[in-house]
Amino acid sequence: MSESVIDIVAVPDHLGTPRWHAVTSPGVVAGVAGLRPVMPFGYELPEAPTALEPDTLELNLYVQPQWRRRGIGSRLLAAVGAHAVGRRLIVETSPGSAARSFCERHGFRRIGSGSHELLTYCDVHHAWLGELVDVEHPGYRLRHWTGDPCGATSVEQLLRHPSRPGAAVVSAAEADGGVVAYVLATTGALPRRRARQYGPAVLVGHRGRRLGLWVNAALLTRLREVHPHVEEIETRTADGDSDLVALRRHLGFRPLGRRIRYELTLP
Ligand SMILES: CC(C)(COP(=O)(O)OP(=O)(O)OC[C@H]1O[C@@H](n2cnc3c(N)ncnc32)[C@H](O)[C@@H]1OP(=O)(O)O)[C@@H](O)C(=O)NCCC(=O)NCCS
Repeated sequence: MSESVIDIVAVPDHLGTPRWHAVTSPGVVAGVAGLRPVMPFGYELPEAPTALEPDTLELNLYVQPQWRRRGIGSRLLAAVGAHAVGRRLIVETSPGSAARSFCERHGFRRIGSGSHELLTYCDVHHAWLGELVDVEHPGYRLRHWTGDPCGATSVEQLLRHPSRPGAAVVSAAEADGGVVAYVLATTGALPRRRARQYGPAVLVGHRGRRLGLWVNAALLTRLREVHPHVEEIETRTADGDSDLVALRRHLGFRPLGRRIRYELTLP
């Protein structure tokens, strides 16, 4: 089938997150593109050292293998570009993959690398998670929040809203009324059984007190209560973040592969 009968159609999801389908004439979806906020940076703790611009978006792009090298990925990217003028896109690829050549062809710049990791609930002992959550942390209080993070630009802002059913789950540690550690998971992308975790992040002055482990164990427990269909959680760890790697290994995350991160600022 020729590319001329493939339409690029905008299909926002239920949260209004932009998505596009490349639809072939018999109604088959040959490729998809989607954008979502870059969570860990959009929800930074106030004194966190790294910060991307809040208008950075993560691009997910996928073309069915039998439809590749026909310009569909490029057309989906053009649709994204027309929608997100002036925004910064981040994309992650596997080393040596077609996506890498695609990114380089389209002017993306390599900005870092890391590992892709997965935790499967059936590999984690729930009583052990419960023990981690029950450990006393004098002066700190655990908080949970669920909902859809529409428009919020910080964890504090999120926690000011009442919890309600939604795609995101946050577990946070508070001290003196302020958030000092948090971790966030989102559901709703495909596959449905897989959630994605961002963090944990711990405020500099509160590190070394196992708060990251505490909030992460709490999140794993809470996520399963709120979204019982979730069976596994993926996450990314940037190279060089050995503390975060150690924490995640301790909880049962195992490496799935290497990831290269690219960026593109749209004209
Ligand atoms: C990356 C991906 C979206 C590209 O989709 P596509 O429809 O095949 O891309 P296009 O046909 O528009 O390719 C545009 C250009 O990218 C480069 N490119 C794409 N695939 C390539 C490959 N396998 N080898 C070398 N270059 C490649 C080429 O320069 C190509 O132009 P050309 O065909 O004129 O030489 C597709 O391979 C894919 O879905 N991969 C798996 C998902 C993934 O890794 N996504 C990460 C996000 S980028």
